[in-house]
Amino acid sequence: MNQNTKKFIFLQDKIKELNSHKLFEQGATFTQEELKIFMEFHIYAVWDFMSIVKSLQNFICPSTYPWRPNKYSKNGIAHLINEIVFSEESDVDENDNYFSHFDLYVSAMHDVGADSSNAMNFIEKFELHEHNLLEAPKESFKFIQNTFNCIKSNKLSNIAAIFTYGRETTIPDMFSKILSKIDEKDIRYNNLRLYIKRHIEVDSSRHGPLSIQLFNYTCENSQDIFDEAVEYAIKAIEARILLWDGVLKKINNTN
Ligand SMILES: [Fe+2]
Repeated sequence: MNQNTKKFIFLQDKIKELNSHKLFEQGATFTQEELKIFMEFHIYAVWDFMSIVKSLQNFICPSTYPWRPNKYSKNGIAHLINEIVFSEESDVDENDNYFSHFDLYVSAMHDVGADSSNAMNFIEKFELHEHNLLEAPKESFKFIQNTFNCIKSNKLSNIAAIFTYGRETTIPDMFSKILSKIDEKDIRYNNLRLYIKRHIEVDSSRHGPLSIQLFNYTCENSQDIFDEAVEYAIKAIEARILLWDGVLKKINNTN
């Protein structure tokens, strides 16, 4: 199987384009107003990540019974998925407070003065097949639509591709850019910085490398499976670029 395909190189270029997005141009840090806008768009991507992870878990180590042994418990893939679910859904801080990373992000939004109520309402009412009447920023909506379209393809390799290239291996660079735009002395941004730093750390050291193993494994050495999955990864990056375009446009219209 050839991994060095034109499409794969195109994907790498898209990731570079994403990471040099104008939104994160070096210079002044985000003002509080700009950060609010950023978070009110981004929360949807924080939320839909869990659905990617849960759908992977369904394939790899489902919570159905009777439980049966499978190959994933022996090759580290079940360990990876359960580890991610463990930390993303049930983290704990040094004071024994339990929280999901989504909860942490919502707290961080409140610290910054951002409004999470639209997103919470959206999430509450969202159903896979009927969500046309729900309100969200247009680009955030397109972003999650793209994610759920991939999940609905119901193919482990496609979902692993957006997980690996849309998130785990791309997040460290992407989040470093975001971090450099956040005033490091403002204590109102402590939770946000904690959320971002935790992901940079753990994705670059563990999740990133392991997710590549997962993705390669799910391709079963088949060019067709690989090519289709890469298409999904490209769409995920394009949706993310569009999401940042939306944030930038709103910031420019507000200033
Ligand atoms: Fe991760």
